[in-house]
Amino acid sequence: VKGINGLDKVVLRDPRGSSAEVYLYGAHVTSWKNDHGEELLFVSNKAIFKPPKPIRGGIPICFPQFSNLGPLDGHGFARIRFWSIDNNPPPLQTNTSSKTFVDLILKPSEEDARVWPHSYEYRLRVALGPAGELLLTSRVRNTNADGKPFSFTFAYHTYFSVSDISEVRVEGLETLDYLDNLQHRERFTEQGDALTFESEVDKIYLSTPTKIAILDHEKKRTFVVRKEGLPDAVVWNPWDKKAKAMADFGDEEYKFMLCVEGAAIEKPIALKPGEEWRGRLELSAVPSSYCSGQ
Ligand code: BG6
Repeated sequence: VKGINGLDKVVLRDPRGSSAEVYLYGAHVTSWKNDHGEELLFVSNKAIFKPPKPIRGGIPICFPQFSNLGPLDGHGFARIRFWSIDNNPPPLQTNTSSKTFVDLILKPSEEDARVWPHSYEYRLRVALGPAGELLLTSRVRNTNADGKPFSFTFAYHTYFSVSDISEVRVEGLETLDYLDNLQHRERFTEQGDALTFESEVDKIYLSTPTKIAILDHEKKRTFVVRKEGLPDAVVWNPWDKKAKAMADFGDEEYKFMLCVEGAAIEKPIALKPGEEWRGRLELSAVPSSYCSGQ
């Protein structure tokens, strides 16, 4: 169906009530709702749905480069390309049975081949799980004919919707090492308890556990992020000053979002021709009372 500005989007609706929306532009998930119809992802009111701008919010795909850690434009080009529907993807074994999904594919354009001279197939499946989970599976295959390997960095730049950032806690990253993007990517070690937020944060946590929880005290909701093939986790909130500096982000909106991004950054993924990498993200949203103390 047509989304904002006539851009094509796919709407997934699970018979049990959950739903998701994916724009072909960027293979960008812009909505994920639970079975009560509540939106779980943040999208800015000022988001610009107009190529070549990336969409502010939802789940931008950062590929083949996270941030400015290389020669490409920030976060690579996958989030600002038109993907195609992949009607006949190779079989994908997952441990969650889902009948509600869409498969998308990205291959290099001539323009991309000039800045990143590699041949690849990037397949993304977006699915809704039996309990309303949002499941994203990326498969990147090196199809270089010249025998050359390539490497890339990656993130699912997920913007979670929260009711008040100052009431949010993130569990699962305490005591880990991180690179602080606000301090020349110097390496530090997290000392405290669960993370809480009172100023700008932009950190790449290294070698993170497969499960991270985001507790929204006010909403009494916990997001559980489960990931495979994604050793790192970025935590980002622009806070007030950066918010004001972003044209496609409201001045006060930083209060209502938190990015927690399953990523592969510190050790780039290296693929020889014929090899495939898989990175899987499973997001669920549960009432907090069910998971306190976990
Ligand atoms: C985060 C980065 O993942 O994305 C930040 O760590 C960056 O440094 C942010 O500012 C937003 O990036 P962009 O390109 O979408 O404005």
